[in-house]
Amino acid sequence: MCAAIAKKEPCLTDMRVLVIFGSPKKNGETAQILDAFIRGLPDNIPVDIFDCFERSPLPCNDCRSCYHSDLCAFSDLDDFYKKLETADILVFASPVYNLSFPAPMKAVLDRMQRYWAARFIRQVRPPIKRPKRALLITANGSQSQEGGEMLERQLKPILTVLNAKLIKSIHYYGADKKSPLETAIKGAQNTAHLLFK
Ligand SMILES: Cc1cc2nc3c(=O)[nH]c(=O)nc-3n(C[C@H](O)[C@H](O)[C@H](O)COP(=O)(O)O)c2cc1C
Repeated sequence: MCAAIAKKEPCLTDMRVLVIFGSPKKNGETAQILDAFIRGLPDNIPVDIFDCFERSPLPCNDCRSCYHSDLCAFSDLDDFYKKLETADILVFASPVYNLSFPAPMKAVLDRMQRYWAARFIRQVRPPIKRPKRALLITANGSQSQEGGEMLERQLKPILTVLNAKLIKSIHYYGADKKSPLETAIKGAQNTAHLLFK
């Protein structure tokens, strides 16, 4: 029997990782750092990747259906919500666009509004039962991680309604001048190891 069962924690093999991937590029800086993280995970860990540009989610239009029921009026993210609610680890991996998330990823984040409504309008505590640990990976073109820090600031309040705690941010910067990725890649690998120690 898995020792964790006795402690009512998920076993290693039951742990689920959900990646919310915000870059349009399959092999850009964000993808390379994310890949190092995934390669650092134990082999048997299931990893789901939600590709924001491929899925192009509808933006939240503040219709407020979620103020009255546990749902989103749009059905395009139904599968995503299921994965989100059952995940143990969330990885937000995104380039910085104009000091923010690229539009498709921003749309996903805004669509978390149903959990904000659950918590603060319908008084559901917690809005998502399964607790999560979160990792933020950002890629910045500029020579500073200021953009990545802005993303972190935007993400943190959303994490509170997802029952998730940010355990680490990895901000790669200097992409415009092709700065080396090694430090960010090492940081991603180390974080993967630490999560499953
Ligand atoms: C529309 C757009 C806006 C951008 N805005 C910023 C920015 O505000 N700050 C910054 O540091 N880099 C900015 N960049 C540069 C990207 O963050 C950088 O190229 C990043 O490494 C791209 O990551 P990716 O290849 O993984 O998609 C911008 C790039 C684009 C296309």
